[in-house]
Amino acid sequence: MKGRSVVLHIMAERNIDFDIITDRRNTRSLKYDFTKEYGIPKDALPLWVADMDFKTSSYVQDALKNLAEHGIFGYSREQGTYIHAVKRWHKKYYGRDIQSDWIVVTPGVMFAVAAAVNAFTDENDAVIIQQPVYYPFRDAVVNNGRRLVVNELYLGCDNRFHIDYEDFEKKIINENVKLFILCNPHNPVARSWTEDELARLGDICLEHGVKVVSDEIHADFVFSGVHTVFAGIKKDYEEITVTCTSPSKTFNIAGLQISNIIIAGDDMRKRFIKTFKATGYCEPNAMALAACEAAYLYGDEWYEALHSYIRKNIGYIGKFISENLPGVTVTEHEATYLVWINFKGLGMSDVELDDILINRAGLWLDSGLMFGAGGSGFQRINVACPAAVLKKALERLKNVHTYL
Ligand SMILES: Cc1ncc(COP(=O)(O)O)c(C=O)c1O
Repeated sequence: MKGRSVVLHIMAERNIDFDIITDRRNTRSLKYDFTKEYGIPKDALPLWVADMDFKTSSYVQDALKNLAEHGIFGYSREQGTYIHAVKRWHKKYYGRDIQSDWIVVTPGVMFAVAAAVNAFTDENDAVIIQQPVYYPFRDAVVNNGRRLVVNELYLGCDNRFHIDYEDFEKKIINENVKLFILCNPHNPVARSWTEDELARLGDICLEHGVKVVSDEIHADFVFSGVHTVFAGIKKDYEEITVTCTSPSKTFNIAGLQISNIIIAGDDMRKRFIKTFKATGYCEPNAMALAACEAAYLYGDEWYEALHSYIRKNIGYIGKFISENLPGVTVTEHEATYLVWINFKGLGMSDVELDDILINRAGLWLDSGLMFGAGGSGFQRINVACPAAVLKKALERLKNVHTYL
C-alpha cells in the first residue's frame, strides 16, 4: 500500500457535481430504507437524519476502493500520516495547532461523549446541556445514570437563539454540576457561538470546576464568520476540555464510524482513554482510517465546493419560506446543514403539525420536540441534498400550507 496516497493526490476530484441525484434506496440507509419501522409513508421525502445525499470526495472513494481491492482487513491503527492529516485539517480550517498525542481515535462522537460522561462524573452527578439540542446528549446523560440539568436556550428578537448565562451559572451551583456538554456549532438551532459567548460559558465552568465536552462535529459548516474552537480560546479551557471532531458530517462518512477526540490535558486524556478502553473497544476500523486520512489530506476542493453548495440551499430555503409560507420563519442560520424552521406563528400543536407534514405533505423531518421542550413548534430540515430535492420538498410544504 506504500505510495498510494501520492497516486491519489495527482488524480482530480470527480465528485463535485452536487446536483446529481443518487438513489440511496436499498443501501441499508437509515434515512431511506426504514420508513416501515418508523411508521412513515413509503414515499415521504426523507430530510431528517444528519447525513448528506451527496457522494463523498473521490479521494475518499478511491482510498476505500484501494483497500477493498487489497482485500485484507486485519487489525489496523492510526499512523503518522493519519495524525498529520488530522493536524493539517485543524490548522487549515480552525486555525489551531494541536499536538499529535492529544488525538484519540474513537468510533464516533457520541461514543466519545458517553465515554466522557463516564470518565468525568460518577453516578447521580449532574451534567448540564443546553436544549433544544441534539437529543443523544440527553440519552448519554440519562442512560448512564447521571442527572440531567437543562439550561434552556431562548429565541431573541434578532431571530437567533441565545444563552441565559444567569440560569446556566445558577444551575451549576445549585445542582453541583460536574460536566457541561456544549454543542459548538449548535444543532439544531444553527448558531455558531461567538468567542465572547463561549468565553462567558468557559469562565463560569472554570470558576465552578466544571469540565467541558465540546462537540464540534459541525465545525466545517459555519456560514457566518469562522468556527471558534472552545478549547483554543484560553489555555485554561484547554485543560478542562474534551473536543470532539470528526470527518463524518463533513465528508458524509458517518456509516464508517470514526472521530478524532482532542484532549490536551494529560490526566484528562488518560482518564478518558481508560474509560473508553473499558468498553472493550480496541483498534479503529481499517476502512474508516483510510477514509479519514484521504479526506483530511486531499478533500479540500470537494469540501469547499460542498460548503458553497449548501450555503446556496440555505439561502434558497430562507427566501422560499419567507415568500410563500406566511406564519412560518427560518431561524437565522449561521451553521450546520440543518435548518431550524419555526411554525409557531401557525398556532398548531406539535402532534397536528407532525401529522400534516408527514401524512399530507409527505415530508419526513425531525420534529422539534425531540430536541427538548424548547423545540416545540419547530421542525429541523436537512438541506444537504441536491437543490432539486430541496425544491420538491418546499413545493410539498407550500401545497399543504392551507392545512397549516
Ligand atoms: C451535534 C452532533 N453530535 C454528534 C453526532 C453524531 O456523531 P457520531 O455519529 O460520530 O456519533 C451528530 C449527528 O447528527 C450531531 O449532530
